[in-house]
Amino acid sequence: MGVDPGGAEPASRAADGSAARKAEHLRIAARLDVLHETPAGLDAIRLRHRALPERDLDEVDIRTSFLGRELAAPLLISAMTGGARQSFDVNGRLMAAAASVGAAWSWGSGRALLRDRDRLTTYVPDPQAPRPPLSIANLGATHVRGRDGPAQAEQLVELLEADALFLHLNPLQEAIQPEGDTRFSGVLDAIGRVVGRIAPVPVGVKEVGFRTSEGRSSV
Ligand SMILES: Cc1cc2nc3c(=O)[nH]c(=O)nc-3n(C[C@H](O)[C@H](O)[C@H](O)COP(=O)(O)O)c2cc1C
Repeated sequence: MGVDPGGAEPASRAADGSAARKAEHLRIAARLDVLHETPAGLDAIRLRHRALPERDLDEVDIRTSFLGRELAAPLLISAMTGGARQSFDVNGRLMAAAASVGAAWSWGSGRALLRDRDRLTTYVPDPQAPRPPLSIANLGATHVRGRDGPAQAEQLVELLEADALFLHLNPLQEAIQPEGDTRFSGVLDAIGRVVGRIAPVPVGVKEVGFRTSEGRSSV
């Protein structure tokens, strides 16, 4: 599989903003001159050096269980793409990697799939391939606030045969994207309705890179 981050969406598909936006995300992320001016937080982590560990390395066991699934390590490959033609390669490779190392996996937003079921192959490129031990579907929290929201969330979990669902909070992104959904009221209530609808499938709520810990309305 060859990643083609420069490829454009066909004109008919580009009319659907969410898939075109996903193609743009991949194109931008693959550019060498993209700089991240705020650190990812890894700079705050210091690994303590132990000159005399008194423990065999083979005894170190980082296996863990998360949402009822056994993972080889507390590692989640999280939520980047789906829907665009270019997502096929990215998801195929990342799902294979997650499956082979025993890590958890999350698809990017399933909005494009709910609009067009033919896009399923861009989320699950090889239905016969081994699945990661934990696979998590993903939808924007603003997209589940309507009357049909909980049913849509349920459909997405079923289409992907997901073990859990992430609802992502991205009001800043939605506000600055031309096709963004900026109806932010009632989102907390919608999250509760989704949880009730798809129980016992677990629901996680995640931000998309701008933090939840600051500001009056943080959760
Ligand atoms: C190219 C790209 C696309 C992303 N698309 C999504 C998405 O569709 N849904 C989502 O929940 N998060 C999305 N994210 C956000 C990531 O899942 C993650 O939350 C974000 O990068 C912050 O996590 P970090 O601080 O651990 O890197 C995307 C990130 C990148 C770089």
